[in-house]
Amino acid sequence: MENNKQSLILAQARNKKVFSGSRPTGRLHLGNYLGAVKGYLALQDRPDLDCIYSVVDLHGITTPYDSKTYQGQIREVVLDYLGCGLDPQKCHLMIQSQVPEHIELAYLLGTIYPVSRVEQLPTYKEKRAENPDYLNVGLFYYPILMAADILIYKSELVPVGKDQLPHIELTREVARKFNSMFGEVFPEPESYETNGTYVPSLIGSGKMSKSVEGSYINLTDSLEEIKKKLAGAPTDSGKGDKVPEEGGVANLLTLVELFEGKEEKEGLEGKYLGDGIKYSELKENLANAIYKELQPIQEKRKYYEEHLEEVKGILEEGRGYCSIIAKETLREVKRAMGLV
Ligand code: TYM
Repeated sequence: MENNKQSLILAQARNKKVFSGSRPTGRLHLGNYLGAVKGYLALQDRPDLDCIYSVVDLHGITTPYDSKTYQGQIREVVLDYLGCGLDPQKCHLMIQSQVPEHIELAYLLGTIYPVSRVEQLPTYKEKRAENPDYLNVGLFYYPILMAADILIYKSELVPVGKDQLPHIELTREVARKFNSMFGEVFPEPESYETNGTYVPSLIGSGKMSKSVEGSYINLTDSLEEIKKKLAGAPTDSGKGDKVPEEGGVANLLTLVELFEGKEEKEGLEGKYLGDGIKYSELKENLANAIYKELQPIQEKRKYYEEHLEEVKGILEEGRGYCSIIAKETLREVKRAMGLV
C-alpha cells in the first residue's frame, strides 16, 4: 500500500518542477510579494508544472535570530503565503528543515564547489558586512544549501527576485559540474522573474529589505501604517529639469508604476518637469493603491489564522510529498558519486 502510494507520487512528480522559498526573518513585505510570490502564483496555475514553495528556516538561522520566537515567525510566513493565494490544491507547501535530505545534498554538492566562488558572491559579501560578528560556517554554506533546495527536486524553474540571480547562476554551475563529473543527474534550472523583480527601499537607497528598518511595507500593514511609512520616504522640491533616476523620488515613482501603472508614473514624470509634483497627494494615492492590493490578502490570511489545524495538514502533505522525491534524488546522487 505504502509502496503504491510512493509510486503514484513519483509518477505525478514527473511534471517539470518549480521550487522557491523565503526566509522566515520577518513577515513578508512588498518586495517579497512582487518579486517572488507573484511569480509563485503565476506558476502554480500552469498545469505542466509541479510547484513546491518553502519556508527556508535553515537559511534564516545563518543571521542573528531568536530561537524562542522562531516557530512563530515560520508560521507567519506560511500564513502570508496562504493569504497571497498559494493554493494547496495547486502547489506543495513545505518547511525546509522538515526534509533533511536538503542538508545532505548540500554537503555532497559542497565537496565539488570551490571556496573562492562562494566568497565572490555579492549576497555573501552583503551579509558579511551586515553582521560582521556573526560570520558562521552556515552563512558560507548558504548558497550551496540553496542550490541543494532547488536540485533535490530537479527543479527547472525558480521564481525569485533580482537579488537572488547570482544564486541561481551558482546553482546552474553546480548542476553542470556535478553532471560533468558523475554523469547527467540534474537539469540546469532557470530563474523566473516578475515585473516587480526589484522593489526599491522606502528610505531612498537599495532594495526593500527585512533587515533594513524603515525600508519596507509588510503585507499585513494597515492603511494607517502604510501611510506612516510612506510619509517617511525622502523627497525633494517636486520639480526640476530631469526626473531623478535614483534616490527617494525615483523609488516612489517605481512604486507608483508597480501599483498604479505606467501611465500614472509617466503623468507624474510630466508634472516633475512642469508645475511640480505634490508629494502629499502622490503618497496618499500610492498608499490607497497598495492597501487595495493588500486588503484581500489580509482577509484570506485571517481565514487561515483561524484555521491553524488546516494549515498544519497542508504542511504535513508538503513534507510527505517532498520527502519521497528528495529521498529518490539523494539515492541517485549517492549512486553517481560512488557512495553506495
Ligand atoms: P529572501 O527570504 O531574502 O526573499 C524571498 C524572495 O523575495 C525576493 N525579494 C525581493 N524581490 C524584489 N524586490 C525586493 N526588494 C525583494 N526582497 C526580497 C527574493 O528575491 C526572494 O525570491 N536565498 C533566498 C531564499 C532561498 C531560496 C532557495 C529561494 C533559499 N533557498 C531556493 C529560491 C530557491 C532568500 O534569502 O530569499
